[in-house]
Amino acid sequence: LASGASNRPLTGRKVLITAGPTHEPIDPVRYIANRSSGKQGYALAQAAVALGAETILVSGPVNLPIPPGAQMMPIETAAEMLKLVEAELPVDIAIFAAAVADWRVATAADQKIKKGTNGLPELKLAENPDILKTVATAKSKRPKLVVGFAAETQNVIDNAKAKLAKKGCDLIVANDVSADSGVMGGNRNRVHLVSADGVESWPELDKSEVARRLMEDFARRIGALT
Ligand code: CTP
Ligand code: CA
Repeated sequence: LASGASNRPLTGRKVLITAGPTHEPIDPVRYIANRSSGKQGYALAQAAVALGAETILVSGPVNLPIPPGAQMMPIETAAEMLKLVEAELPVDIAIFAAAVADWRVATAADQKIKKGTNGLPELKLAENPDILKTVATAKSKRPKLVVGFAAETQNVIDNAKAKLAKKGCDLIVANDVSADSGVMGGNRNRVHLVSADGVESWPELDKSEVARRLMEDFARRIGALT
């Protein structure tokens, strides 16, 4: 008898994924954002569904179809993302693939800022909450596996090691997003898995294949797949 559990090892498990950019309002018509296509995060959601997981996708604004079977929770700001993420805990695996804006405008204007009369507007910034760090260091409801991403333009491995320690997560998936890598917005990715066990570097693959392999690796790490 073919066992459903063997090819759907995450059946009965809950996986939460953040994806896409956040948009931090400056005024009603302008915002600060990060570059992010959302492709890797959405591919991860699809891979989680394929392995049988209850899959929650907390996503900033992107131009991608919702992966069938995933539960999509749209957000705009980092503050909204944190709120929805915390409301979904506990989960078995939490994956932070979103490109969260590090700063927001401290007080967004409630009317459109007009040019001209008062010289250049000055934007006072405030730091956004670190969603990954908040979840990874939570005293209660910490997921079994907390995965961060590190998109770097230089010193990829060293920066990823530093982030692993700083964030308190179990694993960092690091990649090189410098302009000549073609990763930003592209369909291919070359990742390095950085954890307490060391560094595992994978070959360049389609983002969908990276997602499939990552999700199987995560399932193994929580003991749901051998
Ligand atoms: N992250 C997050 N909340 C933030 C900032 C980052 O959840 N406010 C998560 C990202 O989703 C990613 C990881 O933290 O999984 C690393 O993000 P990154 O921007 O590389 O790290 P930072 O700590 O913001 O460092 P810096 O941007 O200065 O390199
Ligand atoms: Ca950042």
